[in-house]
Amino acid sequence: MPATTRRILITSALPYANGPIHLGHLVEYIQTDIWARFQRLRGHETYYICADDAHGSPIMLRAEKEGITPKQLIDKTQREHQHDFSRFLIEFDHYHSTHSPENQQLVEQIYTTLNQQGYILKKTISQAYDAEKQIFLPDRYVKGTCPNCHTPEQYGDNCEACGATYSPLDLINPYSVLSNTPPEERQSEHYFFDLPQFESFLKQRLETADIQESMRNKLAEWFNEGLQAWDISRDAPYWGFNIPEEKDKYFYVWLDAPIGYMASFKALCAKENLNFDDFWHKDSTTELYHFIGKDIAYFHTLFWTAMLHASNHRQPTGIYCHGFLTVNGEKMSKSRGTFIKVDTYLKHLRPEYLRYYFAAKLSAKVEDLDLNLEDFRQRINSDLVGKLVNLASRNAPFIHKHFDSKLSAQLPDSPLLAHLQSERQAIAELYEKREYSHAVRKIMQLTDRANEYIDQQKPWVKIKNPEDKASVQEIATIALNAFYQLIILLKPILPQLAQDAEAFLQTQPLQWQDLEKPLINQTLAPYQPLMQRIEPQQIDSIIKDSKEDMQQENQLNSTTNQANQPSSTPPIEESAHINIDDFAKIDLRLAKIVRAEAVEGADKLLSLTLDVGELGQRHVFAGIKNHYQAQDLEGQLVAYIANLKPRKMRFGLSEGMILAAGDGQTLHLLNPNGEQAKAGMKIR
Ligand code: MSP
Ligand code: ZN
Repeated sequence: MPATTRRILITSALPYANGPIHLGHLVEYIQTDIWARFQRLRGHETYYICADDAHGSPIMLRAEKEGITPKQLIDKTQREHQHDFSRFLIEFDHYHSTHSPENQQLVEQIYTTLNQQGYILKKTISQAYDAEKQIFLPDRYVKGTCPNCHTPEQYGDNCEACGATYSPLDLINPYSVLSNTPPEERQSEHYFFDLPQFESFLKQRLETADIQESMRNKLAEWFNEGLQAWDISRDAPYWGFNIPEEKDKYFYVWLDAPIGYMASFKALCAKENLNFDDFWHKDSTTELYHFIGKDIAYFHTLFWTAMLHASNHRQPTGIYCHGFLTVNGEKMSKSRGTFIKVDTYLKHLRPEYLRYYFAAKLSAKVEDLDLNLEDFRQRINSDLVGKLVNLASRNAPFIHKHFDSKLSAQLPDSPLLAHLQSERQAIAELYEKREYSHAVRKIMQLTDRANEYIDQQKPWVKIKNPEDKASVQEIATIALNAFYQLIILLKPILPQLAQDAEAFLQTQPLQWQDLEKPLINQTLAPYQPLMQRIEPQQIDSIIKDSKEDMQQENQLNSTTNQANQPSSTPPIEESAHINIDDFAKIDLRLAKIVRAEAVEGADKLLSLTLDVGELGQRHVFAGIKNHYQAQDLEGQLVAYIANLKPRKMRFGLSEGMILAAGDGQTLHLLNPNGEQAKAGMKIR
């Protein structure tokens, strides 16, 4: 333990529970995880917590679209999120949900305090209302023509063409994206948090808080524009917590979301027997840090900071904001295949490549960060495989072959190791200040030095010369000590590699303070390759799969959306039932697969030629390649929708769909049983 052990609570923003984790999200979770791991490595008492953000209209509407309850949706999504994070070596001490008893209790308690202190107002406001779907419309669910520049198809909050902001009812010819009908204007009473009462507190507080310079400037702009009371209620139907003593009113998702940080910590307290007040009481002396994206800075620096103050809680020690991810210089794009899901990335590459690349590009500034895929590949191959791992792989064989796998018993004075030692404090400071790219640059310079040392010493020559042979043990020991130190320095970024190196070097889990201890007299385990190069095909496959991910998503949208609805907007069903006439519209038949072939350039698709009896031959693409061998399919009868509108895909026209059952892991085509079944028969 260091001389003074700090007590540190760290959060990342809570991801919405209605979509998968993608590489953009990971900028944040990797940045935070590196910081948390660094603090633990230094021996500080560190807690890194997170949760799914599980409330709000989009989640409610998405669940309806999928035909499941919101609870089912958020449970499923949370499982996926946690799986993705753990595979990316993001090590949370606890992961919770905002839809939890802890959160509900804290939300009610905080709200009651705010209300008692006179910080809650009630106002009647006009809002867009969809009379057909009987729901008040969030701004993004109304579209129309911009009142300022007359660009059509703009959202209800602002215009993407001219940047004007307005309310949905200001749009020209507005329509609800849920029903395509013009919204009505309806009145309803809403609850507001009276933010302007906190103006002078906020100004003063944010002057001294640990926030970035550019955030300070942004805040000055917001103060100049003037603070406004914040609408914290929503009318039914809504998915969230009921406002106490109200029947049809709910807390807006952004009110309960940051309280989710507390709720997650509360659950951790129960698990690990910690004291909640140590970290949240207004007189707390522990440290609290929020890592967030620049898009949600307003919520944290203004609303959340004021809410904490008003409810007698402590202030965050720091709020650290990061920029957005671009891929190959552009916004992530589904059609270019650069909207990459964590799951898709992990099918082809190990997580540490990306952890390292992000670290090598992240600074403490609020700057966007570009993942250039070719640069990424070269950088990993050169830095990690060519330089770092190479140190171990070129020196281990000497020790194993000639010295009985044992490092030398003593180390002479080594300028190389002394230099490494002398840099460690500076590197620690860079980690602490979140200047990871600078830290990585320094570590790589040290790695270069270690490789130069070997190049100068030429142990591969010395080993052949009987007089010099003994010195090779020392040279390799120095090189492997350099490797050992570099591994400790990189451990927050590359935890799996560190673990594998610990197994090879036969050490305990390494801590920062182990930098002081040389590794001598140590027997090494057999050397196993620690890391492979990235091949260009692996990158190509990620892009290709990401394009297919998008096609599958579109397919889901095109089969579940009603006609004429923009596919980006979820429809809301009146009820989960359809009537018999709806069902009768589907021409469901048996079809015989007469030919099945792989599709060049598509990993998951098979091209199928079907015999549909009286309807003749049809052609479809089916995403079943990972589950069936093409040749096994020929001759099989399958269930087929014959009257689905043909769809143009990148590889050709797909005329309808075949049906299969699946759970995401396995897939099963629906075959009839019975010898009389034949192609073209109607399924009823
Ligand atoms: N649910 C809110 C946060 C509530 S915190 C009390 C939210 N969720 S999110 O899923 O949209 O984003 C989670 C975090 O990921 C945010 O900090 C956001 O800025 C970050 N990112 C999401 N997409 C991103 C990129 N493309 N690039 C970098 N960070 C991104 O916001
Ligand atoms: Zn406009």
